[in-house]
Formats: sequence, C-alpha cells, structure tokens
Amino acid sequence: MTVRSIIRSCGAYLPDRIMTNRDLEDVVDTSDEWIVQRTGIRERRIAAENETTADMAIAAAKAALAHGRFTAADIDGIIVCTSTPNHTFPAVAVDVQAALDIRPCPAFDLQAVCSGFVYGLNVADMFIRSGQCRRLLLIGAEKFSSILDWTDRTTCVLFGDGAGAVVLEVDESGDGSLNDRGILFSRLYADGRQKNILYTSGGPATTQDSGYVVMEGREVFRHAVSNMSQIVTEVLEVNKLSADRIDWLVPHQANVRIIEGTAKKLGLGMDRVIVTVDRHGNTSAASIPLALNEAVQDGRIKPGNLVLFEALGAGLTWGAVLARF
Ligand code: COA
Repeated sequence: MTVRSIIRSCGAYLPDRIMTNRDLEDVVDTSDEWIVQRTGIRERRIAAENETTADMAIAAAKAALAHGRFTAADIDGIIVCTSTPNHTFPAVAVDVQAALDIRPCPAFDLQAVCSGFVYGLNVADMFIRSGQCRRLLLIGAEKFSSILDWTDRTTCVLFGDGAGAVVLEVDESGDGSLNDRGILFSRLYADGRQKNILYTSGGPATTQDSGYVVMEGREVFRHAVSNMSQIVTEVLEVNKLSADRIDWLVPHQANVRIIEGTAKKLGLGMDRVIVTVDRHGNTSAASIPLALNEAVQDGRIKPGNLVLFEALGAGLTWGAVLARF
C-alpha cells in the first residue's frame, strides 16, 4: 500500500474583461504583431477594479468543489499560491476559508511566484502523505494587473489575471509504481543568485507598497529555456521514463516559445501540450491550474493519463511534478 494524493477535481475563474493586444496599442508603444511573434499572447483577462485575488480564488474553489461534488465539510486544508494577495496579511487562504465556511484547518498562502502552483502541488502532497490532511483545496490566484507598470511595454503586455483550483484527496490503493494514480514525483529548485532579473520594485518592509514588476526579459527567457529543459530531462531520468509515456505536458504559460522549446526537448508534439497563453497571458501561479482545468473539462486529460507539470518564476524558482490522473 502506498499513500498518494490524487487530483480529484478542478475549477477555474477568469474575469469578464478581455484585453486584446490591439487594446494595448492604445496604452503603450507596442503592436499586436510584436506581442504575438515574441510571446504567442493574443489577449488576457483583466480583473475589475473592485475584483480581488480572493474573489477569484473563491470562485475557482467553488467550481472545483462542484466539479468533484464535494462540500466545504469535505475539506481539511487550504493552500493559495499567490504573489498578489489582497493584504500583506492575513492570507488569501483564510478569505477562502471564511467565504466557503470551511472548518478550522491548515490554511495559508504560498509565494513562489510563477512556480507557485508546482510548489503548491508538492507541499499539498506532503500534507496529505503525512496524514495531516485528507482533502485539500489547492488554488493558484493572481491579480497581476494591479502590480504592473502600465507605462512599461516590456512587462505590461505579458501578464493577466485569473484563478484555478484543484481538490487533492488521499488515496491508499497504489502499489508504489508509476502506474499508480496521484502525484508520483516532485522536484523543486530555487537559485537566489538570480533574484535581480525578475522582482517587484517595492514591498511592505521597503517602500511600504507592493511595487511593480521589473524584469530583464532576455535573461529570464534564457534561464527559462535552459532550466525547463534540464528539469524535464531530470524527471524522465530519475523515473526511468521515456517521453512517449507522458500523455500531456501542462507547462506554466509565460511564453509560447519557452513552451515549444521544452516540448521539443522532451520530443513531445505540440498536440500533447496544453496551451492557454494565447488567451490568458501569464497569470503567474494561476496559469497551470487554469490550463489544467480547461483540458480536464474539454476531455483532453482523462483518468489514467500521465501528466507532467513544469514552471519557472521569479527567485528564480522552478520545478516539475509528475502525476497520473
Ligand atoms: N512592444 C514592442 N516592442 C517592444 C516591447 C513591446 N511590448 N517590449 C520590448 N520591445 C522592444 C525592446 O525595447 C527592444 O527594442 P530595441 O532593440 O530597440 O532596444 C526590442 O523590442 C527587443 O527587446 P527584447 O527584450 O530583447 O525582446 P525579446 O525578444 O527578448 O522578447 C520578451 C521580450 C519579454 C517577450 C522575452 O524576453 C521573454 O519572453 N522573456 C521571458 C519573460 C517571462 O517568461 N517572464 C515571466 C517568467 S515567469
């Protein structure tokens, strides 16, 4: 018998407002052609002024509960992966807990920026395998539009808002092999030497505001391509797995060129890669659960499929998780 955590259900929320590349041409000196060619992004969702990260997290969590026919009483842990919380404290996770009337249980935010959801899968898996939680809500939610400098064309065209959520549940039917359902393998990294290539210009203990996203795009791109190639290779090698066993790659959605590079390294055709960056932009910790939700709801990802998640974000942080549905 092996204790595993299985992704039982998922849900998502996207704000109503669509901002196209053409709309951005009125905001900064850019063009639809430049953005599509360099990033693959065509449009992104932007939250309403009074719509918060917690609002989006709650909506995604409700959808994930409904999808799995769970009620609030089934949940005994909440992790929200976000870098754009409503407040410095308390955590968005307790907003979710209060709104859904979930009983006292571990509830906290996890901040690993765009790697947040991959970090969150690993942490949630440890909570479940250690016996501390049986059914845990894991949410990625971001309102990046509120920390963008809307005069900086090198960053404001890249990001969007949204939230995605999953319910992870304990399962004891596994035999410890890669044929088990559930989270099979996780690997996380950070390298603080690269902290100055992607950061916010402020924070509570410095400028006393949240600051804006600042990025050396070319450097981040270089690290993303190399670190993602390295980590997917590592996942395959450690698990003695050939790439053709992987049914779906669900990558962080920052730039379609980074995604294509990783798929190529794996030898996976793009028909086995879930891509939403064209419609969502980079929603940071929300991007993977948003992509996952789309592919589960439209039937591409099915029970039994082997799925590889990977992401890189500020820090730099990066990681990958292998899971069977
Ligand atoms: N519209 C038009 N031109 C733009 C522009 C925009 N939105 N943003 C930058 N440019 C210009 C630059 O000013 C530069 O002009 P110059 O040559 O006259 O100086 C030129 O385009 C090339 O800029 P550069 O930054 O070298 O472009 P790039 O090919 O590296 O593409 C990114 C820029 C941001 C798309 C790319 O570097 C990238 O995707 N990086 C990774 C970003 C990422 O994934 N971040 C999140 C990680 S979680």
